[in-house]
Amino acid sequence: MPEPTSFHMSPEELRRNGYAVVDWIADYYKRIESYPVLSRAEPGQIRASLPEHPPSKGEPFTEILSDIEKLIIPGITHWQSPNFFAFFPCNASGPAILGDLLSSGLGIQGMLWATSPACTELETHVLDWLVEMLALPQKFLSKNSGGGVIQDTASSASLCALLAARERATGFASNWRGCDGKLVAYTSTQAHSSIEKDVQIAGIGRDNLRLIEVDQEFAMRHDALAAQIDKDRTAGLTPCFVSATVGTTSSNAIDPVPEIGRICRANNLWLHVDAAMSGTAALCPEFRYIHDGLEFADSYCFNPHKWMFTNFDCDCFWVADRAALIKTLSIQPEYLKNKATESGAVFDYRDWQIPLGRRFRSLKLWLVIRHYGIEGLQHHIRQHIQLAQEFARWVEADSRFELAAPAPLNLVCFRHKAGDAANQALMDRLNRSGDLYLTHTKLGDRLTLRFCVGQTNTEARHVQRAWQRIQEEADALTASKTA
Ligand SMILES: Cc1ncc(COP(=O)(O)O)c(C=O)c1O
Repeated sequence: MPEPTSFHMSPEELRRNGYAVVDWIADYYKRIESYPVLSRAEPGQIRASLPEHPPSKGEPFTEILSDIEKLIIPGITHWQSPNFFAFFPCNASGPAILGDLLSSGLGIQGMLWATSPACTELETHVLDWLVEMLALPQKFLSKNSGGGVIQDTASSASLCALLAARERATGFASNWRGCDGKLVAYTSTQAHSSIEKDVQIAGIGRDNLRLIEVDQEFAMRHDALAAQIDKDRTAGLTPCFVSATVGTTSSNAIDPVPEIGRICRANNLWLHVDAAMSGTAALCPEFRYIHDGLEFADSYCFNPHKWMFTNFDCDCFWVADRAALIKTLSIQPEYLKNKATESGAVFDYRDWQIPLGRRFRSLKLWLVIRHYGIEGLQHHIRQHIQLAQEFARWVEADSRFELAAPAPLNLVCFRHKAGDAANQALMDRLNRSGDLYLTHTKLGDRLTLRFCVGQTNTEARHVQRAWQRIQEEADALTASKTA
C-alpha cells in the first residue's frame, strides 16, 4: 500500500461525519432528561478511562464519536437539561449551535476589520440591534459616540471598563507609568467576584476596592457609596470606577443605578453596569425598569450566553465613549498596519478587548435573533419569569419554607426553616438524585437555596416536578428527624 499523501478529512468525509455529529447532538437533546443532571464522576475518573498515550495513527471517526457517549458523557453536568436550576443558566439553542458551526466552518480570525470585514460589521450591526431590542440609551449606538463589542465573558467586559476608567482618571498615563496606588474602585459586597479579580489584574489592587454595604434587599446602599467616596477623596485618594449590578449573582438584587449614577456624575467616576444574566429581561418592555438609570452609565454588559439562548461564549459590552476604550487598549505594531485602519473609517475590534484574536461570535447571535425574532425571545423570557414567580408562590404557601430575598425575575432564593444543616442536606439529596440540580449561596450568613429558571427548554412540568421533589425530600428530612 502506498503511503497516503494527506491525512486531512476531505469535504465528503466532513459532510458524512458532520451529519453524524448533528444527528448525535439532536439525539442528545431528545434523551437529555434521562441523564442525572449533575455528573456523578469522581475526581480522576474521566482521565482514568482515557488511553495513557495519544494515538500514533489516526482513528476512524465513528469510533471517536462513540467514545463521546462512553467516555465523555459520564463526566458531563447537563447544563442544557430542562431540570438544570443551578447557578445562572448557560443556555444553548439550535440556531446558536448552528451559528457556532458556521463560524467554525468559516474559520476566520476577526482581529481587524481587514481580516474579515463581515465579522466586524455584523457584530457592530447586531449590537446596534440589541440597543434597540433592550431599549438601551442611544449613546451606546455605533453611529453616536459609543458602540458595542462581543467579549468572551462579563469578567472581561468589566476588566475593559475598569482599564478605560483607570486611563480616563489618570489622563491616559497609567498605561505608561503604571498605577500610583491611589486609584480606588467601588462595588457592593454582593457584586460578582470578577470585579475583585479585575482590580487585581488592572493594578488597582484589592486594598483599593471598596465593597459597599447593601440594604435589606441586598442592593448597594448609595448613601454608603457617597460617604466612602468622600472619605477616600479626603484621604488624598483618586476614586475612579463604580460597578453596579443589575441582578446580583447570589440573589438577583438590583442596585439603585439612578442614585449611583448621579453620584458618579457628580464625582466624575466611570459607571459600569453589570447585568450579566438579568439584562435579557429587558427584551420585554414590562421588565425594562431594571435599566432605570442607565443614561448615567459609561459602560454596560449582559450575557446572551446566560439567558438569551446563545451558546457560550457571548457577552455584549457597550461603551458610551468608544474613544476612551480604544485609546486604552490600542497598540499599533507594524505587522498589523493596513489601509482600512489608517483610513479611520472602520472599527478594529482588537482595540476593544484584551486579546488580539477573535472568533466570529456575532454569527450565532445573529442566527438566534433571526430565528426567534423579538417576539419569540420575549415569549420564552416571560415564560421563565412566570414559572419562577409561580415557584416563589409555592414556597410562600408552604409553612416549612420561606423566601430569603425578593424574587424580581427568574431567580428564587429560599430556605427550609430548619436551618443550615437541613438546607445543605436537602440540596445534597436533591442533587444526588439526579432529578434536578440547584445550588446555594449565603444571605445574611444563612445558607440559602437558589432556584433559577432560565434553561432554554424548561417548561411548567419541569418546575412542577422540581417543587414536588423538593417537597418529597423535605418530607424525608422531617421523617428522618422524627424517627
Ligand atoms: C452578575 C454577574 N456578573 C458577572 C458574572 C461573570 O460572568 P462571566 O462568566 O461571563 O464572566 C456573573 C456570573 O454568573 C454574574 O452573575
